[in-house]
Amino acid sequence: MSNLRSVVRGVGGYLPDRIVTNADLTELVDTSDEWIAARTGIRERRIVADGELTSTMAIEAAKRALADAELEATDIDLIVLATSTPDQTFPATAVTIQAELGITDGAAFDVQAVCSGFVFALATADNYLKSGQFKRALVVGAEAFSRILDWEDRSTCVLFGDGAGALVIEAQKLNGALTDRGILATTLRSDGRYRDKLYVDGGPSSTGTVGYLRMDGPEVFRHAVTKISDVILETLQKAGYDPLDIDWFVPHQANKRILDGAARKLGLPRERVVMTVDKHANTSAASIPLALMTACADGRIQKDHLVLLEAMGGGFTWGALLIRW
Ligand code: ACO
Repeated sequence: MSNLRSVVRGVGGYLPDRIVTNADLTELVDTSDEWIAARTGIRERRIVADGELTSTMAIEAAKRALADAELEATDIDLIVLATSTPDQTFPATAVTIQAELGITDGAAFDVQAVCSGFVFALATADNYLKSGQFKRALVVGAEAFSRILDWEDRSTCVLFGDGAGALVIEAQKLNGALTDRGILATTLRSDGRYRDKLYVDGGPSSTGTVGYLRMDGPEVFRHAVTKISDVILETLQKAGYDPLDIDWFVPHQANKRILDGAARKLGLPRERVVMTVDKHANTSAASIPLALMTACADGRIQKDHLVLLEAMGGGFTWGALLIRW
């Protein structure tokens, strides 16, 4: 058995300049700050500028993660981008990141698991690193969700925002001990029976259009807490930890009520939950790396801390990942 572990070397994030508050949205649809804040915890979100693409945000987040890791772009041999809002249907937006960073070796591809995308991308990169196929990976979550929102549908347009976040992970030979740094355990799940609960009503092989996001919100909510808690407990069990061992719970930032529910079910104190949904809204695959960036920048997440990530999204897809930072 190989003892290669994927160890986090750096983290970075990027948010567009334009802040759109709940009050701003009342000019577009029949809603209120009170309704949005009470149901979701969201106060504001960032929205991309004209001409600003998913790749534009992803490249900036990647550069910041590389700087944090004190590495050059050419040290990277794998790029995995999680996104549901690629620049084009193909090629993968990951190759644009690769080219703009001046990397010509290794591989770059996109992973599509909607809001669970970052957990799926990180688990994918982890497997490549642990198997020795690649040495250092840039794992990015980037979304321009504002471009697939129906801005006349108040039940969805108030929930999402744009942004990008990135991690640099590196394969290191370690002893395989629980106290070693790196990604300790992962769990991924999908159940396509629920694919019509959260989807985009267009696509290249169906309508030939991009389409708009559609969601059965109450149905997503109904499944979220149970599914999230199940994969978290399974992941902790694989690594031999209990919920109270977790230093930081960094969930996908879908909705404050879902996050509170999951934390309550796990018996985790509020102070250990990293919450950015109030400022970023739901940035889908970008939300976890943006939350990680936030909690690293303000000094909460420190080296050797036990960090638990989880997400659920369209598909349904869901998963969890435990890292010793
Ligand atoms: N402002 C004011 N009223 C609204 C708004 C709005 N923006 N949106 C919907 N309403 C109204 C509805 O029209 C409805 O009115 P009615 O009773 O007159 O018909 C009423 O509010 C209740 O609507 P519901 O959809 O039942 O509201 P609910 O309490 O379920 O809250 C919400 C909706 C916030 C979407 C909730 O279902 C939820 O959080 N679901 C989880 C979905 C989620 O987080 N998705 C993110 C993507 S998936 C993921 O990342 C996990």
